[in-house]
Amino acid sequence: MNITVAGTGYVGLVTGVCFAEVGHQVTCVDQSQEKIVLLNLGISPIYEPELDGLIKKNSNAGKLAFTTDYEQAYAQSDVIFIGVGTPENEDGSANLNYVFQVAKQIAESITRDCLIVIKSTVPIGTNDRVETYIKNHLKHKVAVEVASNPEFLAQGSAIKDTLHASRIVIGVESERAKDILTSIYEPFKQPILTMNRRSAEMVKYASNDFLALKISFVNDIANLCEAVGANIEDVTSGMSYDGRIGKKFLNPGIGYGGSCFPKDTKALHWLAEEEGYVLRTVKAAIEVNEKQKFKLISKARNEFSSFHGLKVAVLGLTFKPGTDDLREAPSIPNVRLLLNEGARVHVYDPVGAENFEKLFPTEVVYEKIPDKALEGADICFIFTEWEEIKAIDLTLFKEKMKEPFVFDGRNCFPLEEARTAGVNYFSIGRPD
Ligand code: UGA
Repeated sequence: MNITVAGTGYVGLVTGVCFAEVGHQVTCVDQSQEKIVLLNLGISPIYEPELDGLIKKNSNAGKLAFTTDYEQAYAQSDVIFIGVGTPENEDGSANLNYVFQVAKQIAESITRDCLIVIKSTVPIGTNDRVETYIKNHLKHKVAVEVASNPEFLAQGSAIKDTLHASRIVIGVESERAKDILTSIYEPFKQPILTMNRRSAEMVKYASNDFLALKISFVNDIANLCEAVGANIEDVTSGMSYDGRIGKKFLNPGIGYGGSCFPKDTKALHWLAEEEGYVLRTVKAAIEVNEKQKFKLISKARNEFSSFHGLKVAVLGLTFKPGTDDLREAPSIPNVRLLLNEGARVHVYDPVGAENFEKLFPTEVVYEKIPDKALEGADICFIFTEWEEIKAIDLTLFKEKMKEPFVFDGRNCFPLEEARTAGVNYFSIGRPD
C-alpha cells in the first residue's frame, strides 16, 4: 500500500515518520521547498526529540521520501493522510483553507481508487464536506472515500505519543475504509476505536477541550487557594488519589498555550454557537485562561509601583518545555506589556530564543545563560518550566539580582527552599 502524507508540520511529519518506522512505504508532501530540502538532508524543520534520527534512519532504509511534487505523489497513492494546519480565524472558527487546498490537489491528481484520511483537527462535518468536494472535482473516474483519524500527539513527546498512543480513533462510513485503516494501524498494537466520522471529529475536540477545562479549573482553584491560605500542591495531591480525577494535567500555572488548546476551545465554542448552543464550560475555561496569562504581572504590581526603567529577567519563552514553539505562549503578551511599560527586558530560553527573536528582533536582550539575564535585575519572571530553569541553584537569584524578587508562573522551586535561600518568591496557588 502506498501511503502519502500531506503536510510536514507536527501532525503530518510525525505521522509519516512513524508509519515508515513500523514498516510502511511513505511519501511526505509539502508545498514548502525549503522544508523538503531540509527533510531530504535528514533535518527536521521542527524541534522534536528523536525526530531527526528517525527521519534519517527511515529515509536511508528507502521507506520514507519527501517531495513537493504532489501530483506525482497523489497519483501513486492508495491512501492519503491530510495533516495540514487548521489555524484560528479572527472570529475563533477553524480556518480550513489548507485542508481544501489539499483536497483540490488530490481531486485533480489521483488516478486510482483512494482513501483520504483527515488527521488535521477539523470541525464536525468537515469530513463529509471534503468527501463531497473531492467527488465533485475529480479529474479521473476513481472511487474515493474520506475517513477521520484524529491525532492525539503532544509536542515534545510526539514520537512516543504516536508509537505508543493511548488509542487510535477511526471515523468511517464503510467496512472498506475500516479494513484499510485497521491494517495500517495493526503494527502499532494499540486499541482501535471505530465510529462514524462526526463522532471521531468530536472526540478530538472534546478531548482537548476537556484537558483545557481541567487546567483552567486547577488555575481557578489555585487562585482561590491563595486567597484562603491553602496550598494548591497539597490540594491537587489530595484530589489525585481519587482514580476518577487522576494525577495528570493538574499543574497550575499561567495558563495553557500552544497551537491546540487555545484554538480548539474557541473553535468548538464557535461551532456550538453556530448550532444555537452555548458551551458554557468551555467558555469558562477560555475566560479563566485569558485572565491567568497575566497572573504574575498582577502579583508583581503589588510589589512594584511601576516597571519603568527596571531590568526584568524573563526565564522561559516557549508555551511549554521540550519545544521551540511560541504559539500562544504566555511569554509574548507579558513581554509586550513589560516593554510598553518601559521595562528593560533580558530573556533566556534554552531552545525558543531564535523564534522569539523573529517577534522581538531588537526590543529585548537575548542571553545565552540565566546568570546573564539575572545580573543586576530588579525582577525575574519564569514562564516555562524547562529543566535548565528548574536546575538553577536558588542562591543564584540572591547573588545576581539587586534584590531577589522572583515571580514563578510554573512553580519550579519548592517553597521552603526558596525561603531558606532568602528569595522573595511568588508562585501560583501557594502561600507567598
Ligand atoms: C495538546 C494535547 O495534550 C494533545 O493530546 C493533542 O494531541 C495536542 O494538543 C493537539 O491537539 O495537537 P500540546 O498542545 O502539544 O498537546 O501540549 P500539552 O502538553 O497538552 O500542553 C498544553 C498547554 O497546557 C501548555 O501550555 C502547558 O503548559 C499547559 N498545561 C499542561 C498546564 O498548564 N498544566 C498542566 O497540568 C498541563
